[in-house]
Amino acid sequence: METEKKTQTAAEQMTDRDLSEQIKKVTKESHVRAENTELMLSFQKGQVTLQQYKLLLCSLYEVYQALEEELDRNSNHPGVAPIYFPAELARLEAIEKDLEYFYGQDWREKIVVPTATKRYCHRLRQIGKENPAFLVAHAYTRYLGDLSGGQVLGRIAQKSMGLKSSEGLSFFAFPGVSSPNLFKQLYRSRMNSVELTEEERNGVLEEAVRAFELNIQVFDDLQKMLSVTENKLQNCSTHSSNTPAKTLQIPGPIIKTAPLLRMVLGLFVALATVSLGIYAF
Ligand code: HEM
Repeated sequence: METEKKTQTAAEQMTDRDLSEQIKKVTKESHVRAENTELMLSFQKGQVTLQQYKLLLCSLYEVYQALEEELDRNSNHPGVAPIYFPAELARLEAIEKDLEYFYGQDWREKIVVPTATKRYCHRLRQIGKENPAFLVAHAYTRYLGDLSGGQVLGRIAQKSMGLKSSEGLSFFAFPGVSSPNLFKQLYRSRMNSVELTEEERNGVLEEAVRAFELNIQVFDDLQKMLSVTENKLQNCSTHSSNTPAKTLQIPGPIIKTAPLLRMVLGLFVALATVSLGIYAF
C-alpha cells in the first residue's frame, strides 16, 4: 500500500519524545504480565480450548463494540481523526461472524461476559464522552496488539482447536492491511502527529497502562469463570436479542434455583408455619 510505504522514513525518524515510543515503554511491563496470564499462556502453548476461545470472543465483542462506537462518534476529534482507520482495523463485524460460526444464528442470546469486561466497556464509554483524546491509548492497545502477537495467536488457535479452515477466525484476519508491519509504522506516525499538551500526554500514557490492566482483568475473570462453571456455560439461559450481555459476578458459581424446587420449599415453610400455629394454639 502506498500510504504504508510513505511511512517507512517517518518510522526511522522517531524519537524518544514520540508518543508511540513512550507508550510502548510505559506498557512494557504490563505487556509481559498480559502475555503471562493463564489464558494467554494457553494460547502460546497451543492449548487453547474451544470453550476458552468462545468465551474470549464474547468479551471481545463487547469491548470492540464499545471501542468502535466511541471511535466512530469521535472520529472528527483532533485526538482521534489521525488514528481513525475503520476500513483497515474495525473488528466488530469479524467478531460477529465468528460468534455466529461458534454459537449459531442466535449467538446474541448466548453471549456471556464477566464483570471485568463490563468494567472495561464502561471505561471506554466514559472516556469517549469525557475525554476522547484518551481513546488513542485503547485503540493502540487493542489494534496494535492484534496486528502483532495476535497474528501468531490466530495461527496457533486454528491448530489448537482443530479448525480445518479459517472459519471462526475472522477476528485475526485484516483484509484491509496488506502488511501488518508497515501498517503499524503508519499507525505509529499518526499517533505521533496528534498534538497533545504535556498533561494530556501523561493522561494518554496512564490510560494505556490502564487499558492493559483492564485486558488482564478480563483474561483473569474469563479463566476463573471457566474453572467455576466448567461445561455448564453451554447451557446458559437465553436473552432477548436487544438485551445487553449477561454479566457474571466472579468468583461464584452460576446457580439457578429451579421454580419447582422453590414451590416445594415454599409449601414446606407454609405447612411448618401452620403446624407451629396449631401446636401453639
Ligand atoms: C500471548 C500473548 C501475546 C504475545 C505472544 C504477544 C506478542 C507480541 C509481539 C511479538 C509484539 C511485537 C513486538 C514488537 O514489534 O516490538 C507485540 C506487540 C504488541 N502487543 Fe502483544 N502479545 C501478546 C499479548 C498481548 C495483549 C494481551 C495485548 C493487549 C491487550 C498486547 C498488546 C500489544 C501491543 C499494543 C503491541 C505493540 C507494541 C508497539 O509496537 O508499540 N499483546 N506483542
